[in-house]
Amino acid sequence: MQTMRELIPLSIPHLAGNEWSYLKDCLDSGWVSSVGSYVDRFEQRISEYVGTEFGIATVNGTAALHLSLLACGVQPGDEVIVPAFTFVAPVNAIRYCGANPVFVGSESKTMNLDVQKVQEFLEQECITDQSGLKNKQTGRYIKAILPVHVFGHPVDMSSLVAIADRYQLPVIEDASESLGSEYRGKKTGALATVGCFSFNGNKIITCGGGGMVTTNQEPLARHIRHLSTQANSKPFEYEHNEVGYNYRLTNIQAALGVAQLEQLDSFLEIKRKNAELYRQLLAEIPQVNLAWEEPWAKSNFWLCTLLVPAADRKPLMDYLISENIQVRPAWKLMHTLPMYEDCQSYRLEETEAVFGHCISIPSSVQLTEEEIRFVVKCIQTYFDQS
Ligand SMILES: Cc1ncc(COP(=O)(O)O)c(C=O)c1O
Repeated sequence: MQTMRELIPLSIPHLAGNEWSYLKDCLDSGWVSSVGSYVDRFEQRISEYVGTEFGIATVNGTAALHLSLLACGVQPGDEVIVPAFTFVAPVNAIRYCGANPVFVGSESKTMNLDVQKVQEFLEQECITDQSGLKNKQTGRYIKAILPVHVFGHPVDMSSLVAIADRYQLPVIEDASESLGSEYRGKKTGALATVGCFSFNGNKIITCGGGGMVTTNQEPLARHIRHLSTQANSKPFEYEHNEVGYNYRLTNIQAALGVAQLEQLDSFLEIKRKNAELYRQLLAEIPQVNLAWEEPWAKSNFWLCTLLVPAADRKPLMDYLISENIQVRPAWKLMHTLPMYEDCQSYRLEETEAVFGHCISIPSSVQLTEEEIRFVVKCIQTYFDQS
């Protein structure tokens, strides 16, 4: 009887550095909660790495997004432009503020928010009055743009920021998936008003769970830190001057993060090498395209994602799963989820076309060359047989 091959996971943590020693340090010292030297170090090192002046650690990436939106002035009844092709977290964060997402279409190469469509929406569907930028259809005001660097591939940020500046809109970069990715030589998370990161277990580095806001704007950084600590204006006097949140990262999680960040450069190198091998091998299969970086970008290749004929997506996924290869379809489009189906959508034709073609394939740091060759061989076998 043939034995089943061990699972090739999609994206799992690689804990190969100082994780044990830094965790032990927390336990030995008793500094386990939301204050401690690892939190300070993690904030400092992430902001240094990304290239911003400030870093504010949070309990997860969703909390980072929520606080960023609040600090950028997003209020109940406002609107925020966001792609429909994204994990749900940024859209939920908009709703936590009582605001409404407006879904603008993505382009089909990197599957990122299409800057051209954002411009068209702002120019044609909105009007400026004394209160701000008003959406003609809904009568509500647009207060921010929230692009997502999907699968680690950077959005065309300088074009987007130029458009946002014209309308004085803050831009909140969701860089949850793109730590280490670069846009024209600058790291994602340092390209707009604020950047938000996630250190969930499936990300390129992990704290178990965790997040970070990065920014160069001191008042925003101060406000976000304030909101993350129950908006306590006078520590130990229990003076809270607005509704705050308990969103701080613990020292234990930050200790993991510091150890992981020390290994990030080597993770990036491995992930690029793996993506290049996938690309080279997949070039032999005409039915398959691998989503790739733009010439002006350097992706962290967080999740390698295939584009295959729509009719083959489900059967190919089933076949790969039967071979113990973990794969994922793309996220359901946001405007099709019940809580967001009434929200406005703009030019989603390419988004809707591309969504049905995506399969994310194993992309962990510890993926071996032999496993990559096996994944591609299975894809080839599927197309040979179909
Ligand atoms: C694009 C994107 N935004 C936000 C998040 C939320 O991060 P977290 O899970 O740390 O809350 C994630 C991932 O989980 C994500 O992929």
